[in-house]
Amino acid sequence: MAELSPALPAPAFDIGGWRSQIPLLSSCVPMNNCSQAPQTHATRAAAERYLDNWNEVGMDWDAWMTEVSLAKAEFARLINASPDEIAVFGSVSEATSAVASAIDFGRGRSRVVVTEAEFPTVGHVWLAQEPRGARAAWVPVHDGEIHLESYDNVINDHTAIVSACYGYYLNGFVQDVRAIADRAHAHGALLYVDAYQTLGTMPVDVRAVGVDFLVAGNLKFLLGIPGIAFLYVRRELIERLTPTVTGWFGRANPFAFQVRELDWSPTASRFDAGTPPIVNAFVARAGMRMINDLGPARIRAWLEALGQRLIDGGRARGLTIHGTTDMARKTSTTAFVVDDSHAVELAMRARRVLPSARGPVVRLAPHFYTTFDDVDTALDTLAAVLARA
Ligand SMILES: Cc1ncc(COP(=O)(O)O)c(C=O)c1O
Repeated sequence: MAELSPALPAPAFDIGGWRSQIPLLSSCVPMNNCSQAPQTHATRAAAERYLDNWNEVGMDWDAWMTEVSLAKAEFARLINASPDEIAVFGSVSEATSAVASAIDFGRGRSRVVVTEAEFPTVGHVWLAQEPRGARAAWVPVHDGEIHLESYDNVINDHTAIVSACYGYYLNGFVQDVRAIADRAHAHGALLYVDAYQTLGTMPVDVRAVGVDFLVAGNLKFLLGIPGIAFLYVRRELIERLTPTVTGWFGRANPFAFQVRELDWSPTASRFDAGTPPIVNAFVARAGMRMINDLGPARIRAWLEALGQRLIDGGRARGLTIHGTTDMARKTSTTAFVVDDSHAVELAMRARRVLPSARGPVVRLAPHFYTTFDDVDTALDTLAAVLARA
């Protein structure tokens, strides 16, 4: 790693030590953490622990169940929840469907308020509820962000649930979730929050912001792999909800094998369905543990410095930034408007910088292990690729 100049800020952790645990850094500059964070020694070891156990024991349900419980507990620790408020899924899409299946759109509450900044899968799940009586009402995106007042125009006393992302996948814009929760609750509506682009980049406290549900997968800033996602359900709500997307792991005792009985688990595991994603839980726990041990507040402090460097450096190179440039209202993910984002991503990859293309933008998303040199290299590479185009 290049020496940081004394004039530049430095992270409040041993960045060199952490970097030595990420083999990918020896060959490229990963700036696609909003898409897939790199492998670490710890996440690889966790996957190997699963594989070794499979070879040595053959089948080990007790160890599997323990691992899933520990992964739920690690997720709970990340968001200041209790482990019994956490359910596990294979994806955010499945978690959203399970929550939607538990919502009653009758009795004068047919409205689902959805923002245009949701990752499309979330919007699709709510739209798919229309045959069940739901009616989507949209909160618009203006200039890459959402104005709080826009919620006032669409949340009313007929609203069953508000679905809002914590951070916008396209450009890292972060919403004032506490203010959205207050608006939803003032009308008797629930709040569902997708924090996939936010967890791992900053502290998130479900109690402080007052959400009813919060969901996230693991392959982005939580250093995990595809095929696993966690859902927080506020304790007071759990026993009032009966998802019709269910299965044997939603039961009070999945191992009772009572086919004619639908005994709902008293915890959020009533949202669980089939056999959990076991190997993914091993890896997810190891990734979340690193984030928890580093501390989201310390990560955020460093990412603020890196994000500001991206904004200032992008402007200095004449690049066009999508959405807000106020670091107080965004994660470090910074999006640059380009003509052909896929082609730009490929050209940057050929130069060993990994960006993440999404529609009209190329995103650069540093993480805790990223240095100022990495940011400068990524910006130089993007500018060079655009100049050639
Ligand atoms: C904010 C957000 N939500 C949801 C998803 C997709 O979730 P899944 O593929 O787990 O359903 C993504 C990206 O993959 C995302 O960025």
